[in-house]
Amino acid sequence: MQMTPEIKKATDPIYKKISKAIPEIEWSIHAPYIYKINKLKKDKNAVILAHNYQTPEIYHGVSDFSADSLALAIEAAKTEADIIIMCGVHFMAETAKLMSPEKKVLLPDMMAGCSLSSSITGEDVRELKKKNPGVPVVSYVNTSADVKAETDVCCTSANAVKIVNSLNVKKVIFLPDDYLAKYVASQTDVEIISWKGTCEVHEKFNDIEINEIRKNNPGIKVIAHPECPPEVINASDFTGSTSGMIKYVKDNQPEKVMMVTECSMSDNVQVDNPNVKFIRPCNLCPHMKRITLPKILDCLENETNEIKMNAETIEKARKSVERMTEIGR
Ligand code: 13P
Ligand code: SF4
Repeated sequence: MQMTPEIKKATDPIYKKISKAIPEIEWSIHAPYIYKINKLKKDKNAVILAHNYQTPEIYHGVSDFSADSLALAIEAAKTEADIIIMCGVHFMAETAKLMSPEKKVLLPDMMAGCSLSSSITGEDVRELKKKNPGVPVVSYVNTSADVKAETDVCCTSANAVKIVNSLNVKKVIFLPDDYLAKYVASQTDVEIISWKGTCEVHEKFNDIEINEIRKNNPGIKVIAHPECPPEVINASDFTGSTSGMIKYVKDNQPEKVMMVTECSMSDNVQVDNPNVKFIRPCNLCPHMKRITLPKILDCLENETNEIKMNAETIEKARKSVERMTEIGR
């Protein structure tokens, strides 16, 4: 696709905003896609929801709503669009379908998975429940619909502690992120039975690297996602969901910050916080990075890659997500 004077005029205001994150040569490739996607989504009454880990041309260029997984689930339930394009990973698209079963939910690349989600099956949860009769199951939203269907209440990194405490019980089964389970256990008196899932992006961080960066950058604020190993959380100044981390930067305007999470977050947040210097540890989520502008355009044009689930799974799984959204952040 070629850049034309019309496309340039229509997309220049977006480029002005993100020119620090994207070189001009790259922009001339993105702009025609951005122009076409933004036009087509209006014609088709489609909404583009994007996770905070999407690349800047998606996050700032075509998304109508960018957020953490909790806010994406809430937004999917509220939207009046006919089509939802989920720029994120498979479990996020499934969650959108659970919240809006009557809508057409499309995922630009069906291979966009998640190491946490693939670490556990519905059958595994049934086994765990047999071994721990009567113990409620709290599942991270980073799970398949089959796992959610076996779950009492879902949670995200934004509300995990609140959800566990809300159950008023002595013990919960908390799935599947072992590090998030450890983080929750450190914040509550409830006994946690965990699973051995990890996020392949966050498990790579370590405290040695963080301490080194602190030594070389006096006064830096280190903020970490709770999917990181406990020693990383302990070496950080703040822990929160992706949106919690963005809010921390916006509210505190630290001189220098390191966001211990997926790379694209720093690029996206830098655009809205020009006075903050970002030190970037670079771990990419290969699943999130499967989503590209050409794939978004293709699935919007042809309405391909639709999320489909049987009615029984939708019914059972939706309850666990709805219970979570009722409790909130
Ligand atoms: P958030 O819910 O914090 O956006 O995290 C989702 C995720 O997949 C982080 O790796
Ligand atoms: Fe899954 Fe980790 Fe990628 Fe988030 S960053 S989608 S938890 S693999």
